[in-house]
Amino acid sequence: MAMNLKGRSFLTLLDFTPDEIRFLLRLSRDLKAAKYGGYERRRLVGKNIALIFEKDSTRTRSGFEVAAYDQGAHVTYLGPSGSHIGHKETARDTARVLGRMYDAIEFRGFSQGDARVLADNAGVPIYNGLTDAFHPTQMLADVLTMTEFTHKHISDISFCYMGDARANMGHSYLVVAAKLGMDVRFAGPVSLWPDEKLIAHCQGIADDTGARFTFTEDVKQAVEGADYICTDVWVSMGEPDSVWQERIKLLTPYRVTRDVMAMTGNRHTKFMHCLPAFHNTETEVGKEIFDKYGIDCMEVTEEVFESEASVVFEEAENRMHTIKAVLVATIGD
Ligand code: CP
Ligand code: NVA
Repeated sequence: MAMNLKGRSFLTLLDFTPDEIRFLLRLSRDLKAAKYGGYERRRLVGKNIALIFEKDSTRTRSGFEVAAYDQGAHVTYLGPSGSHIGHKETARDTARVLGRMYDAIEFRGFSQGDARVLADNAGVPIYNGLTDAFHPTQMLADVLTMTEFTHKHISDISFCYMGDARANMGHSYLVVAAKLGMDVRFAGPVSLWPDEKLIAHCQGIADDTGARFTFTEDVKQAVEGADYICTDVWVSMGEPDSVWQERIKLLTPYRVTRDVMAMTGNRHTKFMHCLPAFHNTETEVGKEIFDKYGIDCMEVTEEVFESEASVVFEEAENRMHTIKAVLVATIGD
């Protein structure tokens, strides 16, 4: 079924119906095939897209830029420094300026409220490229990847998210699972389970879609039979360094190890991570954490990250194809 998403912002999957999300996934698959097949049709010729980044990015920025260029659009990158947004100019004023020059605006920042303010004032679609609350373009990529590594119907897929489920990734997984009727398990300490209000809201959605939720501190129960084990960093962008010590203590039992992967009892289980991941000591932060706490990896071991079961780079590639689908669906000719 074709959907008309023209002119829509993409702030959270809560704003989209299950059919609309499935449409974006189908469109992503089609655009990916078209690029690989060499028959991609450019539907964004003459469009200009602003990319606002209050936080750093590798995948999201590249995903938006390559998707735009493939489709014939131009982009302007406004990074964490160098524009007035937030320092000298409000989100509302910025929206009213950029909305007169651009056909759409991507926003990666701290506040979901700011994303909403941009959407309410720009007069053009706003795309959430990650806020503290949600990471919706990542969810399209993740579900697309899940469908690529299983023959199951989306609503039959089960996945377990291990770690900090109160941040953007945990919350977004809860929403996408609710919308698409999936089986999602959250493994982590109670203090890091998703926000109670969001759970209650998603439970209402699940009553219609048939989604199944499990929240548990018991890793074995959480991962049993899971098709995918997903995780994320233990401390998200924007959080103070002072939380590292406690997070390491709370989340070490929820690291994705070879034993955890084996515990699923499902030999087809795949490992997923939105990236960047702390799986060794080869980064500045990884080294710093090793010097301070003596651990050589955090949320996932090097062994699992580099294993055959790991589909993290397919997942990363799919950021671009799914972002392209959002652009084409909302501002494409
Ligand atoms: N997964 C993700 O959003 O990556 P970046 O922070 O590199 O954009
Ligand atoms: N939770 C992470 C996701 C990074 C893509 C963060 O916000 O830093």
